Amino acid sequence: MSKYDEALEKAKKYGQEQVFKYYDQLDDSKKTELCEQILSLDMDVIESCKHMEELAKKGEISPIKTLELDEIDENSDAFTFEGVRAIADGKVAAMLLAGGMGTRLGSDDPKGMYNVGVTKDLYIFQCLINNLMDVVNKTGKFIHLFVMTSDKNNDATIKFFNDKNFFGYKGEYVHFFKQEMAAATDYNGKIYLEEKGKLSTSPNGNGGWFVSLMKAGLLDVIHNEGIEWLNVFAVDNVLQRIADPVFVGATIMNKCEVGAKVVRKAAPDEKVGVICLEDGRPSIVEYYELTDELMNAKNEKGDPAYNFGVILNYLFNVAALERIAGDKMPLHIVEKKIPFLDENGNFVKPESPNGYKYESLVLDMIHEMDSCLPFEVDRKKEFAPIKNNTGNDSVESARELLKFNGVEI
Ligand code: UTP
Repeated sequence: MSKYDEALEKAKKYGQEQVFKYYDQLDDSKKTELCEQILSLDMDVIESCKHMEELAKKGEISPIKTLELDEIDENSDAFTFEGVRAIADGKVAAMLLAGGMGTRLGSDDPKGMYNVGVTKDLYIFQCLINNLMDVVNKTGKFIHLFVMTSDKNNDATIKFFNDKNFFGYKGEYVHFFKQEMAAATDYNGKIYLEEKGKLSTSPNGNGGWFVSLMKAGLLDVIHNEGIEWLNVFAVDNVLQRIADPVFVGATIMNKCEVGAKVVRKAAPDEKVGVICLEDGRPSIVEYYELTDELMNAKNEKGDPAYNFGVILNYLFNVAALERIAGDKMPLHIVEKKIPFLDENGNFVKPESPNGYKYESLVLDMIHEMDSCLPFEVDRKKEFAPIKNNTGNDSVESARELLKFNGVEI
């Protein structure tokens, strides 16, 4: 069977024949590219948008104990000692999730290239490297840094790091790899075209990072270097501590498969995922899944029972990650603005959401872990996410927090 026949058969099977609308207008190489893209794309996930109600089902939620600031303070020397030892022994690596599109910030460049400086250049990537260097200086050990990008931003990201000389980091300790892409569809699950010979795709969420890392062959580095812990973090929190010794030590000493940095919620309805137990296993409930009853529940101390939000900074045990690597992850169907070709073949960048993207999320990996240590951090010192230009979680708020922490901007 020719590639075209195979691709057409697949498209028909999934009711996606519209992707061939402009096929006859394409030159031969574009025809082949389109067929290859159709053949390589996972179309099963798209079927899920027809039974969305089944995706959201949660088990029974109950509170989980968080290691709070006062307890961390009391044990800080012991935790730090253990953490420094693990890092100095090369057992800890850092894992930067930088495959997102950063649509809310609205820059065409990868988010990490955003310059948050005011009187001087200070790029988001640079802030993260500076934070990592603090630990390198403290432990005397360079830490391997894995960086996940996507088809959309990989080349620009690598070029930027090279142009900037890795901001003083050792290049041989930095490993880039690409995540997978997923189709973007209209509300009926029909895949959009972004060019006449190209399906509309976007990164498939941040939950596939470990599988993509394995596919890129980087598990060899992890095994050869004896790395036992991976500190996964988001690109946009310019204040976060990476491979933070006290956090590493606390997770190891509490014998947990994963540690999760959390902050005390600013208000019961703050839009952060809340750490909890679900059917007795660690889990995260998204803010929109939090019922009024859970939001107002109190613990024995009279404090809100679900009071700690995750900040996308997790320390995963590598053996546990390898155990779950074959498991199917829950799918999240998210309404987004998807650039597409309209019925006249004109490229349109919509002003409001016009369809779905299909993603898996790193927070769902927590539920797969047998044990989790929620570890409280002071939000003023460690949480300055840049999602928007202004307002909450923005360039403006992050600049204020950087200044508050003595970072020259
Ligand atoms: P966000 O949920 O903030 O998404 O990602 P985003 O794509 O960066 O921004 P918006 O929603 O389009 O404005 C949280 C973290 O997960 C990474 C992001 O790069 C960020 O570090 N991420 C997200 C990925 O690595 N891959 C993805 O597919 C999605």
